[in-house]
Amino acid sequence: MSELRFKNFEMGDFDAVIALWQAAGIILSRSDTQTGLAQKLERDPDLFFIMTDADNQIIGCVMGTFDGRRGWINHLAIDPKRQGEGLGKLMIRQLEDRFRKAGCEKVNLLIEPTNSAVQAFYERIDYTEDKLIFMEKWL
Ligand SMILES: CC(C)(COP(=O)(O)OP(=O)(O)OC[C@H]1O[C@@H](n2cnc3c(N)ncnc32)[C@H](O)[C@@H]1OP(=O)(O)O)[C@@H](O)C(=O)NCCC(=O)NCCS
Repeated sequence: MSELRFKNFEMGDFDAVIALWQAAGIILSRSDTQTGLAQKLERDPDLFFIMTDADNQIIGCVMGTFDGRRGWINHLAIDPKRQGEGLGKLMIRQLEDRFRKAGCEKVNLLIEPTNSAVQAFYERIDYTEDKLIFMEKWL
């Protein structure tokens, strides 16, 4: 694992990260544009980071957000060719460390109903299900 590096997301990574998210089956939203991601970087840039391999290729990405009370995990993705090697767990542990440093004491995430298989991954790394009704509105 020594060849792996974490690096904060920069706008120059945009195309590669979108490609990774698409390859991993992440459902992109209208916020996942250059403008949307640049706006996210203005707030907590150290919570949005990538993982690179020995060849400097992006093999993982996660976009954490901290609203001052809760941490949120968004768009976690590992390159399909590298899944099952413990890298997703490594990304989440790294993000949890960064949340702790920010003063965050609870982390939340949402799973698309079409992606319910990923629940087993989160349970394996100590996350528990809380049945809530999620409501939303685009502005
Ligand atoms: C979900 C994802 C990030 C997991 O990353 P990963 O690197 O493949 O997972 P890891 O190898 O770190 O797995 C950690 C543990 O979870 C387990 N696990 C991973 N995926 C699992 C699954 N689908 N079902 C059951 N267990 C799973 C692993 O066996 C491992 O257990 P261990 O510690 O006993 O060995 C990756 O599969 C991915 O990118 N999926 C597509 C995108 C996605 O769904 N993202 C989440 C959006 S909410």
